[in-house]
Amino acid sequence: MEKKTFYITTPIYYPSGQAHIGHSYCTVASDAIARYKRLQGYDVMFLTGTDEHGQKIEIKAAEAGVTPKEYVDKIVADFQALWKLLNISNDRFIRTTDGYHVKAVQKIFRALYDKGEIYKGKYEGWYCTPCESFWTETQLKDGKCPDCGREVKWAEEEAYFFRLSHYADRLLQLYEDQPEFIQPESRKNEMINFIKQGLGDLCVSRTSFTWGIPVDFDPKHVVYVWLDALTNYITALGYGSDNEADYQKYWPADVHFVGKEIVRFHTIIWPAMLMALDLPLPKQVYGHGWLLFGDGTKMSKSKGNVVDPVVLCQRYGVDAIRYFLLREIPFGSDGVFTNEALISRINSDLANDLGNLLSRTTAMAQKYFGGTLPAEREADPLDEELISLATALRGKCDEAIRGYQFSTALSEIWRVVSRANKYIDETMPWALGKDESKRARLAAVLYNLCETLRIVSILLCPFLPNTSPRIQRQIGAPAEALTYEAAAQWGRLPASAAITKGETLFPRIDVDKEIEELNALLPKTSQEAEKEAAQAGKSQPAAPEGVAQIGIEDFSKVELRVAKITACEPVKRAKKLLKLTLDDGEGVRTVASGIAPWYRPEDLTGRSIVLVANLKPAKLCGIESQGMILAADAGENDVKVLFVDGIPAGSRIH
Ligand code: MSP
Repeated sequence: MEKKTFYITTPIYYPSGQAHIGHSYCTVASDAIARYKRLQGYDVMFLTGTDEHGQKIEIKAAEAGVTPKEYVDKIVADFQALWKLLNISNDRFIRTTDGYHVKAVQKIFRALYDKGEIYKGKYEGWYCTPCESFWTETQLKDGKCPDCGREVKWAEEEAYFFRLSHYADRLLQLYEDQPEFIQPESRKNEMINFIKQGLGDLCVSRTSFTWGIPVDFDPKHVVYVWLDALTNYITALGYGSDNEADYQKYWPADVHFVGKEIVRFHTIIWPAMLMALDLPLPKQVYGHGWLLFGDGTKMSKSKGNVVDPVVLCQRYGVDAIRYFLLREIPFGSDGVFTNEALISRINSDLANDLGNLLSRTTAMAQKYFGGTLPAEREADPLDEELISLATALRGKCDEAIRGYQFSTALSEIWRVVSRANKYIDETMPWALGKDESKRARLAAVLYNLCETLRIVSILLCPFLPNTSPRIQRQIGAPAEALTYEAAAQWGRLPASAAITKGETLFPRIDVDKEIEELNALLPKTSQEAEKEAAQAGKSQPAAPEGVAQIGIEDFSKVELRVAKITACEPVKRAKKLLKLTLDDGEGVRTVASGIAPWYRPEDLTGRSIVLVANLKPAKLCGIESQGMILAADAGENDVKVLFVDGIPAGSRIH
């Protein structure tokens, strides 16, 4: 018989900065579901990937002096390495720069155009030229650009639009007909209200930047990044290619897991696009909450408060991090991430409850029976509660997982673990061990504990995939006793199982010492660093950690020269960049510099600056930049160019 399929996806992540623990959250949750479904016997397709186009990435790459593709390649490799570290079992990884995806998106765009679902129109609004942004009347601040405060002008631009407005009624009907389509329930009401306020057509092409998928029949337009991104869920299965077998097999998706802020894209734009293409709709979109910091702010790199998942995994192990993410926060709600809460979970749940249960059980099996329990066992009514709780556990987990309630599933597992620890206290095996006549009873107690651990280890596997096999090895369970079916059956551990005491699963952590060490790892604000240096009476600041010292021969490789700015203008495609024309004493050269947020062109023309004259040229947003000018980070979000007015252009700086 053909296996039932199950298709689950994560959002595709923007590789615009390093992955943080917030990104890991959804991926770990999806992985737990994929593994659980595989355990249940489903043929699972688990997809994740990266969303690589768009102006933000184009600008970031320009600022870094590399091409957008070079820029994303590096970050995507880091994402992939992180998923490997976190033991993520995705079946596929899609990059929106992959050739097959690009082709399929072009095909989809054309199909929608041919059907009249996409039409060419005009984008109108107040336009800020340096910022390259359109604003509505109400968005303006005192009639000026809300971002930079400069004058705006009324402008029109040719663009393609998707007839989203036609789908308002069908979307509302969908939410009614398929009550499970948007979960949790509260998010559904937000979407209904959004639609009821009026749904306009959606602008689905851009001409203001080039880092995107060109509309093949009108290539000065690139496809809107959300249209490009959302289609990944079908292009990854081969939709729009020569081989649509996987698309036929796995689509529609059983569930798209997404963060709450992107539910709108997945429950309005995405189903409307599929309706326009006459394709089946996903069965469910689940909007999970955010991982917040103690002060209630969303974790983000720009706020300088990212907790690096790689560092956390190195310190506590992958499974401890997975456990915390899935246990601490009910899926769907926001939750707070603190190092204290993480350590406390590790100590109480993993080291104390689970770790101790295993180590006490295996140590006693070794001590009293040399690792093999006698087949003769004496039952007692005291055993019944533990046995019935353990055999009912699979049903409880199944139910929680059906509603994507990881935290509930884990609480149920821990209820059994705690019951087993209590069972040790009640049966007092150490007392039984002193009485030769109680050997059969002692064997039963230890067998029951091993059986509980066997069942627990099977159901824990999707959540803690590294730890489960370690438990299974220590209790000597053979593969046939570790199936999904065996998780609901008592007595599957053979009497002959060889029980061994292995390494501690989760060592206890000294909380105070650990918090101190973690604090030392946090990047310091510049004021903190200055204060510490002053307190330590340091006259010479030490090289910051991670910055290698260099010899004079290295420094002399850099050619620093005074240059005069003869002209300066904003860059059309990047609001942070200024294009400078320089007289470097020998000739004219062009440099692009990311200083537009701090300087207006008229502030710079005529001034002299320090130029790195022998830097390899780089293309930044279409400009060949022939060098770099020096500037200082002068406090939080402030940059000051080093001016050397009065020194002739071309003077060497040593
Ligand atoms: N590229 C789009 C998604 C396109 S899907 C067709 C995107 N990318 S993102 O990188 O900004 O975010 C990806 C996911 O990470 C989102 O679901 C977002 O909610 C999630 N998270 C980012 N920070 C998070 C937390 N601090 N906590 C939980 N999830 C968060 O949006």
